[in-house]
Formats: sequence, structure tokens, C-alpha cells
Amino acid sequence: MKNVILVILSLFIVCTGIVFAVQNNKQNVIPTNKGDIKMTDKKVLVAYFSATGTTKKVAENLANATGGDLYEIKPLKPYTNADLDWTNEKSRSSVEMKDYKSRPEMVNDNFSVSDYDTIYLGFPIWWYIAPTIVNTFLEKHDFSNKTIVLFATSGGSRFGKTVENLKPSVSSSTKIIEGDILNGNPSVDELKKWVKNF
Ligand SMILES: Cc1cc2nc3c(=O)[nH]c(=O)nc-3n(C[C@H](O)[C@H](O)[C@H](O)COP(=O)(O)O)c2cc1C
Repeated sequence: MKNVILVILSLFIVCTGIVFAVQNNKQNVIPTNKGDIKMTDKKVLVAYFSATGTTKKVAENLANATGGDLYEIKPLKPYTNADLDWTNEKSRSSVEMKDYKSRPEMVNDNFSVSDYDTIYLGFPIWWYIAPTIVNTFLEKHDFSNKTIVLFATSGGSRFGKTVENLKPSVSSSTKIIEGDILNGNPSVDELKKWVKNF
């Protein structure tokens, strides 16, 4: 009888161990999403270009609000203050933005868009549209069947013809949503409310 009890007790301990091991293994998968988004939700990427840091702050808060990964679109040749002088028609930004086909080079990266379902894409408004380096980014990766939600900062302009100018850089199966101009450095809580729109 003593032996039977011992066998039952041993079996119980082994089974409990297996259940804990399986649960622990599942937990290892969860932490890829840091914020409110649960494991079953879509994986989010917040990608942004920022020349002077305004859009960067919004992107960081948005990554916090969505639990998404943050990715910076980095120009191979950083923009200097002289490059950004929009009052000078010969400055780098003026020349690039006059030519919608210009594609400023980006720093190479290894990241894969296929890991994400929804991409929030942020940038400053330049001459009423997205800087053409955003087209470079869209053409460098395959956004087929993805949803891209745009956000931007500006001196007051809205999106203008931004979507129209970005569409040729993605496939017809990519959905581009004109999100919002997020001026005034919205808080993480405000952004949590905002993302519920999408
Ligand atoms: C070359 C250039 C062109 C710009 N064109 C516009 C514009 O058309 N409309 C607008 O409201 N602001 C314009 N701005 C202002 C920026 O959109 C604004 O300062 C933005 O918040 C900067 O973001 P960043 O710090 O992330 O680069 C322009 C700024 C630069 C440098």
C-alpha cells in the first residue's frame, strides 16, 4: 500500500512539472509586445523619419502606446541645417522636394516588414507632402497586404497630396490610411486613444 501511494505521489509531481514547463515556454513568446497589445493582436511597427527631432518624440510615444517596435528611417547623409533651409531654393531639401522622383539614400538595415501587420509611418511635412526619403523606405521593403497608418508633424499644414505621392511606392494591395497630423507632442495616453481609430 505504501508503495502504491509513493507511485501516485511521484506521478503527481511529474505531471505538475510538465504543466509548469509548458506554461513557462508560452510566457517566453509573449514579451515581444510591451504595451497594451496582447499576444493575439496584430504586431505593430512604428517607423519614422525625423530631421530635427519633433516627429521622433511622437514616434517614441506612439511605440509606447501601441507596444510596437520602433524603427528610424536614417538618411545615409544626415540633413544639416543648411540642407533644411526651405527659404533657399538651392538647399538640398528644396532640390529633392522639387523632384518627386528623388530617392535620398537610407542607411542599410536588416529588418523585415513581414514580421508586422500594421505599420504606423511618421515624418515631417515638407512642402505639403512627405519627404522623398519616405518613398525610398517604402520602395526598399515589401509592404504588400500591409496596412500603413500615416502620422506627421508640421508647421501647420495638413497632409495635402501626401497619400497620392506615396501610393506609387507601394503595391496595389497595400492600404495607406491618412492618420493625423500629431502636432503638440501628444502624450502616451492621448495616443492610446488615437490608435483606437485604426
Ligand atoms: C524643408 C522643410 C519643408 C517644410 N515644409 C513644410 C510645409 O510645407 N508645411 C508645414 O506646415 N511645415 C513645413 N515644414 C516644417 C516641419 O514640417 C516641422 O517643423 C516638423 O515638425 C519638423 O519635424 P522633425 O523635427 O521631425 O523633422 C518644413 C520644414 C522643412 C525643414
